[in-house]
Amino acid sequence: MTRDPYLAFKMGQKASWGAFSPLEAVTTVPSATLVNFSRLAAHHTVLDVGCGTGVVAITAARAGAKVFGLDLSPVLIERAKENKNIAKVEVELQEGDVEALPYADHFFDVVLSQFGHMFAPRPTVAVREMLRVLKPGGTIAFSTWPPGLFVGRLFRLVEKYSPLPTGISSPSLWGDPTFVREQFGDKLEELVFDQGFMQFPALSLGHYRNTIEPTLGPIVKLIHESKTDLTQLNHFRLELEALAAQYYAENHIHQHYLLSRGKKI
Ligand SMILES: C[S@@+](CC[C@H](N)C(=O)[O-])C[C@H]1O[C@@H](n2cnc3c(N)ncnc32)[C@H](O)[C@@H]1O
Repeated sequence: MTRDPYLAFKMGQKASWGAFSPLEAVTTVPSATLVNFSRLAAHHTVLDVGCGTGVVAITAARAGAKVFGLDLSPVLIERAKENKNIAKVEVELQEGDVEALPYADHFFDVVLSQFGHMFAPRPTVAVREMLRVLKPGGTIAFSTWPPGLFVGRLFRLVEKYSPLPTGISSPSLWGDPTFVREQFGDKLEELVFDQGFMQFPALSLGHYRNTIEPTLGPIVKLIHESKTDLTQLNHFRLELEALAAQYYAENHIHQHYLLSRGKKI
């Protein structure tokens, strides 16, 4: 058992994100949006941080870039390897932590993250590492969930039932442009924001809940913790469906997100 609270938190995350693979069908479409938004070129060397099953990395590789992907979960890295073989592209994939990137300084032209680095417990450490491996003049671009919109509100709901340990930053802070500006300070220029939209297909609210309970990291953890407290679990489920209902129409949940892009000075 480790005494380092950040390491302990990340070990928990490593386990709970391992079941994310089925949701790659949902994150495949916004991957193309992020790759286009980043303006990466075929001659670029690109890192996808928190790559999961490789959806962004493979999309960038199909555009001709030399791509590396890194994720905390070894299970998802194995799935990403299968995906790149199916797609017939080259991607260097490895298990790792955005807070301690295993790459040389100034190695990448572009660093990307789709709903990935936002889960690191210490934004300052993740930002320092992502900027360290980026060349001066290189681009960082990422997608994150705003705190006031559906997925950000969902994370807040999860935190109500399963509070984050002291000192661990809430992922939904990353969906606020003011927070993004504060994290990068004077290290980036041409920082621009845009809004993305994606649809999460669901035949009913119950289908939505049944899909995310065993797959979405923070919810997987909450369900595991609540196994002995069915009253709490039932309350959470009621609140989850009531929240999702506000964004449910035409057999999908509407999910808006923030796109951020800047150039390292
Ligand atoms: C919502 S999933 C997104 C996966 C992928 N980018 C996609 O769009 O499908 C979040 C990912 O971040 C990864 N992650 C969480 N904390 C991390 C960390 N400290 N370092 C690297 N990856 C991390 C998880 O393992 C998970 O694969």
